[in-house]
Amino acid sequence: MNQAHNPLFDTVTLGDLTLPNRIIMSPLTRARASQPGDVPSDMNATYYAQRASAGLIISEATQVCPEGKGYAFTPGIYSSEQVRGWRKVTDAVHEAGGRIHAQLWHVGRISHNELQPGGASPVAPSAITPEGSQVFISAESGMVDVPQPRALETEEIPKVVEQFRQGAENAREAGFDGIEIHAANGYLLDQFLRTGSNQRTDEYGGSVENRVRFPLMVVEAVKQVWPTARIGVRVTPTGSFNSMYDEDPHTTFEAFARGLDEAGIAYLEVVEDSFQGNHEEGRPESVLKAIRNAFSGTYIGNGAYSRDEAIERIQAGYCDLVSFGRPMIANPDLVERFRQNAPLNRWDDSTFYGGDERGYIDYPTLEQAQ
Ligand SMILES: Cc1cc2nc3c(=O)[nH]c(=O)nc-3n(C[C@H](O)[C@H](O)[C@H](O)COP(=O)(O)O)c2cc1C
Repeated sequence: MNQAHNPLFDTVTLGDLTLPNRIIMSPLTRARASQPGDVPSDMNATYYAQRASAGLIISEATQVCPEGKGYAFTPGIYSSEQVRGWRKVTDAVHEAGGRIHAQLWHVGRISHNELQPGGASPVAPSAITPEGSQVFISAESGMVDVPQPRALETEEIPKVVEQFRQGAENAREAGFDGIEIHAANGYLLDQFLRTGSNQRTDEYGGSVENRVRFPLMVVEAVKQVWPTARIGVRVTPTGSFNSMYDEDPHTTFEAFARGLDEAGIAYLEVVEDSFQGNHEEGRPESVLKAIRNAFSGTYIGNGAYSRDEAIERIQAGYCDLVSFGRPMIANPDLVERFRQNAPLNRWDDSTFYGGDERGYIDYPTLEQAQ
């Protein structure tokens, strides 16, 4: 490794934004929105502002409509109260010198009737139950199995596309610097992309051209609101979380990356493993290479990266930027710790989801620890 020059601290451009470093905060659901109404709070603003030294913050996933919700206490971005709540977050990040994108989310089948308007079934490309998947529905009931979803009718799909467009508009009103479309981790867009969850026979299923159609329609819709320089997409090409599977991830994600390239968006964030640091089979290099070759925008790598692996893979040209999830939870000053190559706080996974300040805004900086 070239010790003289550390590329993590280069000033880089992402779309038309100038980032002071290549260290990105990956989207992290923390299930601490205030109730009722799933509204971002002052505590949420403090948490994000503490992490404003990241080159870019990508917000936790935020549902674009009530049907897009899959877990208790996650924030939304469809009501005016939620937009005002997010405004506090973006103001706090900007005051602290940072930049923040909103991750726009629809969970599709990863939900439960108790979270859905009118107790309806969650919607999906096909009525296939994700075996073994669970969602947290309330403090009383905790984690429960995901029920069988209802397949969206062909004519309902433009309505969901419109919900993403509206979410993008709300993100602009809330003061975000851009948006990231959540097409990863087995949620709605990913469910359309992959063969294990999409067995439709209309123009949204079957061939790879048909499976990428709905996610690309979402991208076209948000382009009506945001310049392409401020739009990114997140994918998990080989992730198995939420009972996901694809017969041929190489072909599927190469085609999707090509479509995104033609759409001209700024970046693609790729989770390069199955979920949360599961590297049993290593990074799926051939799929990643196909994506990298098909997409000419910025490539953000993610998934169990250490500081040194990030430096190595940036120097080798595998990625342009690297996003960090769990290390960002536990280290509000991750950028400074990486600069000094200082030890990191260890994350406490018992406080990942829900609860109060503990395990949220009380992780010490290096200075506070000393
Ligand atoms: C507590 C927690 C919440 C997460 N929430 C989201 C989310 O809202 N959206 C998303 O795309 N990924 C989410 N992820 C995945 C992370 O962004 C990231 O891909 C994963 O943690 C692997 O990166 P890491 O090894 O640097 O932590 C979450 C992960 C964790 C641990």
